[in-house]
Parts: sequence; structure tokens; C-alpha cells
Amino acid sequence: MAVKDKLIELFDSNRGKFLSGEEIAGTLGCSRNAVWKAVKTLQENGYNISAVTNKGYCLEESTDILFCSGIKKYLDDKNKFDIKIYKSLESTNLTLRDFANEGAKEGLVVISGQQTKGRGRLGRPFFSPSDTGLYMSILLRPEMVAGDALKITTAAAVAVAEAIEKVSGEKAEIKWVNDIYMSGKKVCGILTEASFNMEIGGLEYAVLGIGINAYRPEENFPEEIRSVADAVFSERKSDMRNRLAAEILSGFGKYYDELAKNTFYNGYKSRLMWIGEEINVIHAGKTVPATLLDCDKDCRIIVEYENGEKETISSGEISIRKR
Ligand code: BTN
Repeated sequence: MAVKDKLIELFDSNRGKFLSGEEIAGTLGCSRNAVWKAVKTLQENGYNISAVTNKGYCLEESTDILFCSGIKKYLDDKNKFDIKIYKSLESTNLTLRDFANEGAKEGLVVISGQQTKGRGRLGRPFFSPSDTGLYMSILLRPEMVAGDALKITTAAAVAVAEAIEKVSGEKAEIKWVNDIYMSGKKVCGILTEASFNMEIGGLEYAVLGIGINAYRPEENFPEEIRSVADAVFSERKSDMRNRLAAEILSGFGKYYDELAKNTFYNGYKSRLMWIGEEINVIHAGKTVPATLLDCDKDCRIIVEYENGEKETISSGEISIRKR
């Protein structure tokens, strides 16, 4: 392990405490100069480390930085996922897709502190500013027919909602198909991108991308999403994004292992927004008014149009109708 990584672990377990350069060098088995260099690198990477003469170095208690061992310490099964963390990427889905095409194994996870070209559903961009979000993609190689791929996304939506509730203590809801809302505003979007194998007629791999607004960005959300977007936490809290990432991975891992049994379904249906309400169904460029009646065992929604006709829908979008 590099000095920098050992130092992160040491600081992490001594948050808020000053450690002298000598003490650190002794614990890590390196020179004081190596400690000083590693501290500088960490500071440049956004770690809030104060350096005070005659006291040493101290990692601020409230630091919330994504790092591998910081996530792993909250995972029960530390070997299920291989986690790679980056400061900034164009898109974690794209990076993971490259790894997948090179033959990477199921369970590889790519996380970035920022995305410069975050991808959303239906070709939209996903706003992914630095240091306030959790942008994560998980590589899956399920043996399933393409038609079952919706299950990956819906299971992920439940895992994310449960993780948010556990870590924040507040209620999270699901807007069909897979947006996570808190107090009426979107805090997370999920984009699953798949590669199909025509010969076997199934999935070659799927890249499950999850983007969470953990904190409100300093410069606020862009104008076009300001009225609909919000963040999970109202203030910065110690180690929240590492915990959130770990809870999502643990929760999703369990649902994924028993995907055929739909064990995530109750968690999905109980959090589904707008059942019984008047909505618009947006599909194939058309917006049609309807009432949302229910959600079936495959997480497809059942709607009733104004002419009394009912339909079960597995793709598209819905919005609430303003009264
Ligand atoms: C949506 O709300 O339309 C889906 C947004 C999905 C965003 C995540 S962030 C991690 C992963 N990488 C991407 O480029 N997109 C997904």
C-alpha cells in the first residue's frame, strides 16, 4: 500500500486528533519527509488536513471524502466488489464500459468525485459537480434475457432508497421507473446501460450507473433543474458518502443475488409515488393524461386513460398533473 493510502487510513481512524510527523512516520515506517509529501498530496486532493507547528497534522472531523478503505470499512462482504475511485471522469458509466469491453469481472465498481459529461436517461446530461455528489457505476454480468433487465434498475432504486433512509434518517420515495425523491424533489437518478450478445440472445454485461446529489452544490443547481432537484443532506457530515456508497453496494448486492425472486418488490411498491393520482404518461414523444392505478410484480405501472382504457407500461416516463 502506498504511503498516501496508509496515511488516509491512519487519519481516518484519528479524525479530529493531531498526530505529529514523527508519530506518523513511526507508525507507517517511512521518513518524515515522505509523510509531509503525502499530506501535501492529500490536501491537494481535497482532504481537509490542518498542519500546525509543534502539534502536527489533523484530519478535520467533518471531512467527507470518497476513498476505497473508507467505503470498505462499512461493507460486510469486503471481497464482493472491486472498487476504483477517481477524482474526476467524463462519466463513470463510460469508464466502466471500457473496463467491461476489456473483460473486467462482475463486481467492478467505478466511483468519481466529479463527472464532466455525466449521462442521464433519454440522452440528457446529468449534472455532476465536484465533491458534492456520489457518482458510481457497477459492472454486472447477469445470465438473463434482455427483457428482464428492468429488474436491475428497479432493484437498484430500492437499494438506493433504503441506503438513503438508513444514512439520513429521512424518507425516500421512488418516481417510476427509477428516480429517487425526497420531500418532492429528485436526489438521485439511475441509468443502466447494457451490451447485448446477439448470438446468445441475452445480456453480455450491464453497467448500472447511480448518481446521487449528496449535498447542494455551492453554486446551486443549474437553473433548468433548480425547481426539481435537491440533495440528500442539508449540511456536510462526516464520512456520509462512503457510508452511502457502502450501504447501496450491500443492499443492491443482496437483491441482485436473488433477482429471480423479486425480493425487492415490496420495497419498490411501498415507495412508489403517485399511486391513485392523476399523471401524464410521456412515451414515444407523446404526453397522455392518465391515472396511476398500480404497479405489477415486474414493476411495470398500470394506468387508466381518460377514455377508460387501461395499459401496463414498462418504459417511458411519468409526471404529476398540476391541478
Ligand atoms: C437520470 O436521472 O436521467 C439518470 C442519471 C444517472 C447518472 C449516473 S451518475 C453515475 C453514472 N455515470 C453516468 O454518466 N451516469 C450515471
